[in-house]
Amino acid sequence: MRLKIRGKRRLQGVVEISGSKNSAVAILPAAILADDPVTIRNIPDINDVRTLIFILQEIGYCVNYSNNVLNIKQIANINYDIRSQEVKKLRGSYYFMGALLGKLRKIKTCSSGGCNLGNRPINYHLDGFQKFGVSISEFDDELWMKAKRLEGTRIDLEFPSVGATINLMLAAVKAKGVTQINNAAIEPEVIEVGNFLCSMGAKIQGLGTTSLIIIGVKRLSGTDYTIGFDRIEAGTYIILGTLAKGRGITVKNIDPSKLTTLLDLLQGIGCNLTVGESEITVFPAETLRNFSIITKPYPGFPTDLGQLITVLMFLIEGESSLKETIFSNRFSHVRELQKMGASITTVDDTLYVSGPCELKPATLVAHDLRCAASLILAATLCRGITFIDNIDVLLRGYENPVQKLKNLGLSIDIIP
Ligand code: EPU
Repeated sequence: MRLKIRGKRRLQGVVEISGSKNSAVAILPAAILADDPVTIRNIPDINDVRTLIFILQEIGYCVNYSNNVLNIKQIANINYDIRSQEVKKLRGSYYFMGALLGKLRKIKTCSSGGCNLGNRPINYHLDGFQKFGVSISEFDDELWMKAKRLEGTRIDLEFPSVGATINLMLAAVKAKGVTQINNAAIEPEVIEVGNFLCSMGAKIQGLGTTSLIIIGVKRLSGTDYTIGFDRIEAGTYIILGTLAKGRGITVKNIDPSKLTTLLDLLQGIGCNLTVGESEITVFPAETLRNFSIITKPYPGFPTDLGQLITVLMFLIEGESSLKETIFSNRFSHVRELQKMGASITTVDDTLYVSGPCELKPATLVAHDLRCAASLILAATLCRGITFIDNIDVLLRGYENPVQKLKNLGLSIDIIP
């Protein structure tokens, strides 16, 4: 599928932010740990969620999903063999490892998919599972894991990996005894999954700190849980607001305290923002100062916003730069932006923009989710029509992006 966008900077209006993708893709697999039905609200309607629903149905669950509310109930013996093409479609499918180990102490799976952001090993997940007493056999891209029982343990993560922290937490809540995870990730999505598990009766202490203590329980009950906002979707529309020249873009249904690093950066370079309790309005600004930013684990500048903030650099006089420290291949947008005539280069893990840059329309390819979003932002800046191919990657992670952008006044259409 391709997107057709007629560039326009006079954008304005209100955009409501959806539930968090990265919380949802962990909470759906985590729901199988409950022994009763579970209701989850504010689940974004994105393709990654649709894929996880398919996997849940395949393994023995009845799932009803409408109006962003999902009800899930076990209706058959659980099939712990999830080797399938669906698993390969997204990264988050690897949370079935922790969830099925916690539930049944076994799983057969294959390597998960997701955006190609360079080498994405799962050694911290697997080393951690082994510490619980899980034996792991690897054949080609298959993983077979089983344990007689999960024993609480101490895990010192080499890096505060979001995925490993969540996966190990999923196993730990049903392990025997106490598990300690040190150097744990403190991203809001980790806290959210922890809160979801606690709402089912899990015992987790230290959420939001780098040391988690988890006391295993025998049984987890059902729950009715509402997922919080997607901070990366919010950041995407806030950055769009800094590019627009209309009467302001208001980003609603958010918690600005989870966006501090982005907001500090934008205010520091001269952007015109009004920050409320649960919304932010971005107004056009006169002159912005060039900046250098480094991606870091939370609360640092999120790697997921790096490709998006690049587009703001095109409006600013002087050299701006972005150093990416989390993933080895997060600059897939650079060659596409060069096709638009942008003055952008990379040296090792850093990209440099020499601004201001006048962008011209081109036919582009979206290589990954955030690349797609950054190309849309760039397309708003140039006069004329930009085409973006492979736009399916965008629909994996943004809810209703075309309608949300149309509501702000952008001429944007999907061409099948
Ligand atoms: N890493 C390892 N070994 C592991 C796990 C991670 O070497 O066992 C490395 C990774 O290769 C990477 C770094 O550690 O270099 C960080 O990886 P992390 O595990 O923290 O990331 P993730 O769980 O794979 C999640 C989000 C990403 C987001 C990162 C960082 C999901 C499904 N994905 O990935 O989201 O960028 O955390 O915040 O939750 C996106 O939404 O566009 C996206 C890529």
